[in-house]
Amino acid sequence: MAVPAAVAKRAAGLRRKLEDANHRYYVLDDPAIPDAEYDALLRELEALEAEHQALASADSPTQRVGARPLQEFGEVRHALPMLSLGNAFSEQEVRDFVARIVAGTGDGDPVFSVEPKLDGLAISLRYERGQFVRGATRGDGASGEDVTANLRTIKAIPLRLRGEQLPAELEVRGEVYMPRAAFEKFNARAREHGEKPLANPRNGAAGSLRQLDPRITAKRPLAFFAYGLGAVEGWKLPPRHSQMLAGLREFGFPVAPEAGAANGADGLLEYYRAIGGRRDALPYDIDGVVYKLDRFDQQNAMGFVSRAPRWALAHKFPAQEQSTTVEAIDVQVGRTGAITPVARLAPVNVAGVVVTNATLHNADQIERLDVRVGDTVIVRRAGDVIPEVVRVVDDKRPARTVRFAMPATCPICGSRVAREEGEVVSRCTGGLFCPAQRAQALIHFASRRAMDIEGLGDRIVEDLVDLGLVRTVADLYRLDVADFVAMRRRADERDGTVPETVKAGKVASKWAENLVAAIDRSRNTTLERLLFALGIRDIGESSAKTLAKYFGALDPLVAADESALLEVPDVGPIVAGRIAGFFREPHNREVIAALRATGVHWPEGPPQRSAEGPLAGKTVVLTGALSELGRDEAGAQLAALGAKVAGSVSKKTSFVVAGEAAGSKLDKARQLGIEIWDEARLLEFLRSNLAP
Ligand code: IVH
Repeated sequence: MAVPAAVAKRAAGLRRKLEDANHRYYVLDDPAIPDAEYDALLRELEALEAEHQALASADSPTQRVGARPLQEFGEVRHALPMLSLGNAFSEQEVRDFVARIVAGTGDGDPVFSVEPKLDGLAISLRYERGQFVRGATRGDGASGEDVTANLRTIKAIPLRLRGEQLPAELEVRGEVYMPRAAFEKFNARAREHGEKPLANPRNGAAGSLRQLDPRITAKRPLAFFAYGLGAVEGWKLPPRHSQMLAGLREFGFPVAPEAGAANGADGLLEYYRAIGGRRDALPYDIDGVVYKLDRFDQQNAMGFVSRAPRWALAHKFPAQEQSTTVEAIDVQVGRTGAITPVARLAPVNVAGVVVTNATLHNADQIERLDVRVGDTVIVRRAGDVIPEVVRVVDDKRPARTVRFAMPATCPICGSRVAREEGEVVSRCTGGLFCPAQRAQALIHFASRRAMDIEGLGDRIVEDLVDLGLVRTVADLYRLDVADFVAMRRRADERDGTVPETVKAGKVASKWAENLVAAIDRSRNTTLERLLFALGIRDIGESSAKTLAKYFGALDPLVAADESALLEVPDVGPIVAGRIAGFFREPHNREVIAALRATGVHWPEGPPQRSAEGPLAGKTVVLTGALSELGRDEAGAQLAALGAKVAGSVSKKTSFVVAGEAAGSKLDKARQLGIEIWDEARLLEFLRSNLAP
């Protein structure tokens, strides 16, 4: 069936737009259209191609993900072998390399192309008359595995070359890699879901390309950089490697932006050091740099030894992974109470830094790795992240080791350690009582939207906690000028800083007087500020306000159980549990009593429960991401209009507000035939019902 000309034109236009968007994103690093728009264009093209079979074409942007998994990978013989590189680890080896080139070419000062050595997987991409026809791994250099279907899913790899004059045959070589941010994101998700995380981005790239089902590869965030050529037919090569890379860029391939030119051993070493210094900041892992003689005629003059060119050299960074032994496993308590197991290691030098601790992340990770005291482990330091234990060397495990178990109580304060359902982290339940959490709790307590204690900054709070002057928020109200002056003096002694404050005694006490006055002013507060200031998990300003209104006074709130709290608009079961749990803890009650005893006060009044407003008596469920307001704020505004905001959909639900990527709650609402609002409708409603 003939395709109407207008449809064919539209399809061609869509393909061009999508290809351009990819090119801008992956090659020029200058995204042109938002993801949502890209998706919309892709869907439109898919619809056209589905309706008009004759439009189908293998290089269409819709054809990146194949329909079914393969049984096995075929074998591909490389038309030209894929070579490896000679390695250098020292400055002297680089100088020797340059000297060999000077001798071999007769050029006293040859120019080199200098490039990052990407830590991924080498592949070869074959284009015939501009179409991507086959892609293969390096394998043994002579032949590799046919991973075409997987490579097609990588959007940085063009399915069709750009430009007018396209070579009859072009093999492009380069590296498939997993960007570091994507790797971190992938692992965070895997850990959350109790799945096995990837050991490093390199394994991530390799493992993803070895999937027999391209639909899995398509979900992995892979990218590609071109760095070389294989067989070429019908393209007049420029005389230099660097110009060839520029040509590949024109054809639509991404080339590492850090690639450049240098000459002389000192120039090469300068590049090595410059890239090394920026290594942690690069968005991808590299394991060194590569120097390549830039002029092709000089490359030919140098030739090859065994399987490596004599005109190129890989200058490697020191290894980022080392093995060492675990001397102890401790747990650390973070400022939010999160408990992190940490391996104490026999000191080991990893890429120039002595490592003695490595994070084990959480209980799930320990379980998976099964790390035990006495084990030999591989530790890895990548980027500026905390070193981590990658794996245990099983056959080096000594006899009679014991499995590690997370402690049941906080090592700092002795409070119970709890892990909520569906969460990976365990937390100390000590809250304000736990010294590890104290500073953070105090900083929040003093902040502008909480008790608003002007001048009580992070540094001062940390010093107060550090020097043991303050344990609970109530202790702040017992401090006098002399305490602050003494604190400053002791902090100066501790830090070895010149105690100018002591010399200029008057200035020091003025500063302390101001602080004491600010603390005093904060005694006069409101119930909602106090509730927010206490730092109960998930109680933000809007929930604090709702609670203050609903109970009117603190005592009835402290006494309320979960079921009473569930009656409060905008309070679901999780939050109800948090509030009740907080006030059940004896030390939290003690802190509140102490605050009252030191003169902190707030007006109290009758409860204001009768839901009024246009949504009185209605129960609303929010689901998915609300981009304009956020769910908390939307909930608070709905509650302000009298609605009860609930956490789950039932027959009692009046309507559901569904944001971006809403899931099972939306499905359930549809099943039950409940009214569904999108974000625009909600905004419209709030706008016309809330006073500005
Ligand atoms: S050139 C004949 N350039 O290093 C030259 N290789 O040990 C062949 N690699 O298998 C390779 N970044 O996976 C070249 N900018 C770069 C590279 C690079 C990473 C890898 C590649 C290759 C290995 C050679």
